[in-house]
Amino acid sequence: MARLKDRVAELHRLLNQYSYEYYVQDNPTVPDSEYDKLLRELIDIEEEHPELRASDSPTVRVGGQAQSTFEKVNHDTPMLSLGNAFNEVELRKFDQRIRERVGDVEYMCELKIDGLAVSLKYEDGQFVQGLTRGDGTTGEDITENLKTIHAIPLKINSPLSFEVRGEAYMPRQSFLSLNEEKKRNDERPFANPRNAAAGSLRQLDSKLAAKRKLSVFLYSVNDFTNFKADTQSEALDELDALGYKTNQEREQVGSIDEVLKYIEKWTEKREDLPYDIDGIVIKVNNLKQQQEMGFTQKSPRWAIAYKFPAEEVVTTLKDIELNIGRTGAVTPTAILEPVRVAGTTVSRASLHNEDLIREKDIRIGDSVIIKKAGDIIPEVVKRILERRPENAEPYRMPTHCPSCGHELVRIEGEVALRCINPQCQAQLVEGLIHFVSRQAMNIDGLGEKIIRQLYDNHVIKDIADIYYLTEDDLLPLERMGTKKVNNLLAAIEHSKQNSVEHLLFGLGIRHLGIKASQVLAEKYGTLDQLFNVTEEELMEISDFGHKLAQSVVTYLANDDIIALINKLKEKNINMSYKGFKRTEVEGHPDFMNKTIVLTGKLQNMTRKEASEWLERQGANVTSSVTKKTDIVIAGEDAGSKLDKAEKLGISVWSEEDLISKQAEIED
Ligand code: IVH
Repeated sequence: MARLKDRVAELHRLLNQYSYEYYVQDNPTVPDSEYDKLLRELIDIEEEHPELRASDSPTVRVGGQAQSTFEKVNHDTPMLSLGNAFNEVELRKFDQRIRERVGDVEYMCELKIDGLAVSLKYEDGQFVQGLTRGDGTTGEDITENLKTIHAIPLKINSPLSFEVRGEAYMPRQSFLSLNEEKKRNDERPFANPRNAAAGSLRQLDSKLAAKRKLSVFLYSVNDFTNFKADTQSEALDELDALGYKTNQEREQVGSIDEVLKYIEKWTEKREDLPYDIDGIVIKVNNLKQQQEMGFTQKSPRWAIAYKFPAEEVVTTLKDIELNIGRTGAVTPTAILEPVRVAGTTVSRASLHNEDLIREKDIRIGDSVIIKKAGDIIPEVVKRILERRPENAEPYRMPTHCPSCGHELVRIEGEVALRCINPQCQAQLVEGLIHFVSRQAMNIDGLGEKIIRQLYDNHVIKDIADIYYLTEDDLLPLERMGTKKVNNLLAAIEHSKQNSVEHLLFGLGIRHLGIKASQVLAEKYGTLDQLFNVTEEELMEISDFGHKLAQSVVTYLANDDIIALINKLKEKNINMSYKGFKRTEVEGHPDFMNKTIVLTGKLQNMTRKEASEWLERQGANVTSSVTKKTDIVIAGEDAGSKLDKAEKLGISVWSEEDLISKQAEIED
């Protein structure tokens, strides 16, 4: 047994050394087969002698038992984020602010790895817990998944207790092979390595996470007490010495001009890296100076993230396709030669309207530059005139609807061309898709494909027909089994109970959004009551203008609509308001008449629950951040709304803040 123990210790030592050489130093000294052989040996020993299985055994790299949830854990010190700079001017301002406060500085320039922030806790040199960033205050315990990342040492050669932070990411090569595999299995590929990394670390089964080939770069320590370092540069060197993987492209520089050179260099070279970066992080190098600069609520004043401008690529405009929306608006869409930009393959981009095509003088056959606005929505920036084919003709919008052939009109004051034929099939189908969508009747499983098939097979013509569907209608559809059919019918049945604002919104009355539907539902209680209102009455409601009031009244006066509502009534669709009444709400002074925006993913409640609670306190919950917004509540991965709130200096709450307020009020 003693000899077996020694062998286990030896195997630990060798396997850890090989992992380190391969994954941290990028310099393997033995072939993979040697590693695999030793690992196999260790697995076999542990299987036969479970008492020899240590929690930091290299066998944990292959993953263990699947979990049912991730535990939420508070960070010892909050995980902050960084302020952004998008250009030279903003960087020079950052530099100026720093020099005004602390005098001469040196900067550390680091690549901004595009992955997700993780925090790794070590006790007496053992890796004991790994957390996601979460909302910065509370993260999720993803220890088991992090242990499968070979670049994370399970133990270090020093009995330190501390927390080290960094970015977990998926190397491009792993990402490409993962997506290949997904495609082979008919699964949806990940949009980019960042999403793939996040998805992998959120796998409840660490055996699956282990297959994902993630890596990590560490870049900070939460407590320098046991470190000798006086600078960020020395701190990173110490992390290196402890066996951590840090990014080696970092550079210490003496001025903001040199920072700009570093940025210029990496803007050019970023595509050559084996992983994605989305910017450069610039940090004051000296730790004492960092301390002097301190922190704002959300980020250190001693660092800033320079974000690369949206990537632009050239491709060919193959065609312009016209889409008819629910309201008959005709939207031209660019059909592009597929091209990779900012992490995904793009083959379509909205061209918005005819005016825009004319202004930009975009023609079929043109070489065009495309980018993704906010790195998400593909957009045609411009055409390259020098590359225009000789025969390219200016684009002319058709005069008739490509779906129903009805003449297209341009309504005064509107940019879009519209098909005004109420029987236009394209519009009817879009209307059906809208009816089942999340904020409307929210019928799970009834997607666009099924709707189109049902419509094309003449099974449904209008929204009420959905409630007349039977098993016999659904079974013949593509990829439909009895189980799916039953689930679908159950979801349809369930939707009958929705509070009436969802039906109201689902009808697709022009200009009537979900918010206004809610207001009407609350005010009038039932759909029948609404049939009696006049335009004047509606215009008394705040935020109801003439256009909206007129649209509602005209819509409800239509005989076809009355027939449609009766057809729904026959199937017992709920037509009354089930929410709470604002008038019944006492409200809380902290929220009364406050305009609040919720953004990002909440951990402990749904956005709907949060929103209803806030409304019960008298708040107005809206969806876009403006100067009138009082509070923005930001959950995980909050994006542009949070940025905007910060720009406008609006008070930002975390989910934690909301929860403690709830506790305070409800006590
Ligand atoms: S320093 C106080 N250095 O960028 C925050 N962050 O908002 C200190 N990131 O999600 C962060 N590479 O995870 C730092 N070299 C680097 C980084 C880096 C990527 C991420 C970080 C965070 C975001 C900044």
